[in-house]
Amino acid sequence: MTEKTLVLIKPDAVERNLIGSILVEYERNGLKVLDMKLINASTEMAEQHYAEHSGKPFFNRLVSYLTRSPLVALVLKGENAISRVRALNGTTDPEDSQDNTIRALYGLSMAENTVHASDSLESATRERSIWFS
Ligand code: PPS
Repeated sequence: MTEKTLVLIKPDAVERNLIGSILVEYERNGLKVLDMKLINASTEMAEQHYAEHSGKPFFNRLVSYLTRSPLVALVLKGENAISRVRALNGTTDPEDSQDNTIRALYGLSMAENTVHASDSLESATRERSIWFS
């Protein structure tokens, strides 16, 4: 099934000039960039994006991280894009991530893991409306 998914190239990656290196991983795996922008996320946007984690001990840290400097939001399209992009990204903790995944290559830690991607069709729709309203 052809799907659209929402990806964030997070502040730690933009700060380290990794936008191009990350985009190339998606493009060479056949995913199409449908929309893309550099954004200074507001606290409200970050809180909406991570709403399901509200109340968790790391919630405030997540919001500060996403808002501390610009991020790149993009919509990728392709066959089974949601699961394929998450596989390309790797696991939440870069230390556990399979070789050559984006987080294994570039992730710094669980708290600064470089990229985000939607985990379901429902979250892809919800998250796209936050970043591309
Ligand atoms: S959970 O609790 O299992 O739903 O968490 P998970 O799906 O693995 O992670 C959700 C997002 O929270 C980030 N995360 C953390 N940030 C800071 N500190 C800690 N300890 C931490 N644990 C998880 C994680 O990077 C996920 O962000 P996204 O952007 O969705 O990848």
